[in-house]
Amino acid sequence: MVDVLLGLQWGDEGKGKIADYITPDYDIVARFQGGPNAGHTIAFGEKKYILNTIPSGIFREGCLNLIGNGVVVDPVRLLEEIKRTEISGVSVKEKLIFSYRANLILPTHKLLDEASENAKGKSKIGSTLRGIGPTYRDKTGRSGLKMYHLFSNDFKQVYKKVVNRHLALLEHYKFTDFDLVKEETAFFEACEILKQYQFANIEYLVHNAIREGKKILAEGAQGTLLDVDFGSYPYVTSSNTISGAVCTGLGVAPKHINKVKGIFKAYCTRVGSGPFPTELNDEMGERLRMVGNEFGATTGRPRRCGWLDLVALQYAVMINGVDELYMMKTDVLSGIDKLHVGTAYDLGNKIVDHFHSTSLETNKVIYSEMEGWNEDITQLVAFEKLPKSLHNYIDFLEEKTETQVKLVSVGPDRSQTIVR
Ligand code: GDP
Ligand code: IMO
Ligand code: MG
Repeated sequence: MVDVLLGLQWGDEGKGKIADYITPDYDIVARFQGGPNAGHTIAFGEKKYILNTIPSGIFREGCLNLIGNGVVVDPVRLLEEIKRTEISGVSVKEKLIFSYRANLILPTHKLLDEASENAKGKSKIGSTLRGIGPTYRDKTGRSGLKMYHLFSNDFKQVYKKVVNRHLALLEHYKFTDFDLVKEETAFFEACEILKQYQFANIEYLVHNAIREGKKILAEGAQGTLLDVDFGSYPYVTSSNTISGAVCTGLGVAPKHINKVKGIFKAYCTRVGSGPFPTELNDEMGERLRMVGNEFGATTGRPRRCGWLDLVALQYAVMINGVDELYMMKTDVLSGIDKLHVGTAYDLGNKIVDHFHSTSLETNKVIYSEMEGWNEDITQLVAFEKLPKSLHNYIDFLEEKTETQVKLVSVGPDRSQTIVR
């Protein structure tokens, strides 16, 4: 049986914290899409860890962590991440298994990402520059390299063919100021080390685990509004981030998908460019950024902040078939007199309550105003003890999404989690 945990907004909802928190209920945690553009933060025992490619089950005893075929892997960055993680005493090698089918991010994919962003000028995506777009483009263009290529005798020749094509493209972009030899040395060294790790045909491994009655958690990266098909295109990432992607990113049949757990912040953030109807470019936006410490886990960029967008949340619940909602960073809203929740977009000639490409270009939003609460909630452990107006806030969201809020997060630490 496979449960899914994924973000319902523009990423950074707190997936890492919750995946780690619920891992004791699972035998396996698996990433099914994305790559080192993700930054998942886990905090416990005064320590904080940021994972990019490694699944968030890595800190728990007895849990196997899988990198599915839908993921893109940068060997150089991954080894740095493994080293960082092993310092905390975790033996990553024993607990991490790669799909042979995952695609490799090459040094030139990162250069192409940068060149393409530069060429876009004002309309740049705000990519993390980790090579994600160019790698997925090569994957669907049927000219990318897979993990299994690492084990082939002619790996270097195949690599060279791909890179020559990339160099011609970089020439086209007039992007020539780089030291590829240095990057390649690090890349090939990292590939050799990576080959000593565990690889498997993950689709068989997962299938057998399901037959044995094991419990698997598929951990999403990015968020629904960054999905390449259903997000705020073209300001999205290059993979499908929604629950449907679990099937194609791990090789799991739809009938094995059990519960979909959707995570959202009690407000909304976005990093990078693109539409964000409920964005607050004022003191309140700044307050959310400072109190919520809204700076990118991967790039350190300040995140754009705004009120909760219920149109987008309802849409994300629909697209993913969310069974239960997990509300994150609720503590950040403490001390705000009046909270706002966006319930429709005003397009000038009409009011819409649907999230689609044209409805997003507005910053005129119809809001419901709600009473805030003043209490510090960061030490609370019982759902019933949450302030009355927070209960009202939750009731309102549940009614509008027709989905129960099963968990309320009141701080970054594992312990600051209230399960209903
Ligand atoms: P992810 O990409 O979805 O895993 O989220 P990130 O790790 O990028 O960003 C979430 C940030 O919020 C991290 O710094 C977490 O430590 C922090 N965080 C998670 N849950 C809470 C919470 O309930 N309250 C507060 N104040 N911070 C939280
Ligand atoms: P996690 O898993 C937030 C954003 C980038 C950019 C767009 C495309 O931590 O929630 P890409 O590098 O994928 O080509 O960038 O997507 N983005 C994220 N924003 N959280 C993430 O991951 C993100 N991964 C990509 O900022 O706007
Ligand atoms: Mg993140």
